[in-house]
Amino acid sequence: MSWHRVVRDDALAPGGVVAFDGLRDAGVELVVWRTDGGTVVGCDARCPHQWSHLAAAGLVDGDELICLSHWWRFDCAGVGTKRNVLGRVDEKAPVAVHPTRVTDDGWIEIFHAAEVTRGGSTM
Ligand code: FES
Repeated sequence: MSWHRVVRDDALAPGGVVAFDGLRDAGVELVVWRTDGGTVVGCDARCPHQWSHLAAAGLVDGDELICLSHWWRFDCAGVGTKRNVLGRVDEKAPVAVHPTRVTDDGWIEIFHAAEVTRGGSTM
């Protein structure tokens, strides 16, 4: 259970989405994205609909991350919705959100309970 460095803060512009695969050996895939307003959000990488990877299929729109596979949207709290062409908003399954922080030395980190141990050292 720890914080994991993902990307330099100055390398993630508003609207950016990056994958974090440092916990892949533990079966965990994460993404970190930045709203157009600058808020950093960390969440599971797989869309709860049909498992698209949100670093590949995700697009930031304001304060939401849209999965371009079928247009589900996720807000900064992970709440999932979908809008139809008439503007109706239907609730969809959420994506799990994880705490993020920016360190004093300029890294974005994400917190996750999973640990990966190789050769006796925790990564
Ligand atoms: S896989 Fe993401 S909306 Fe369908």
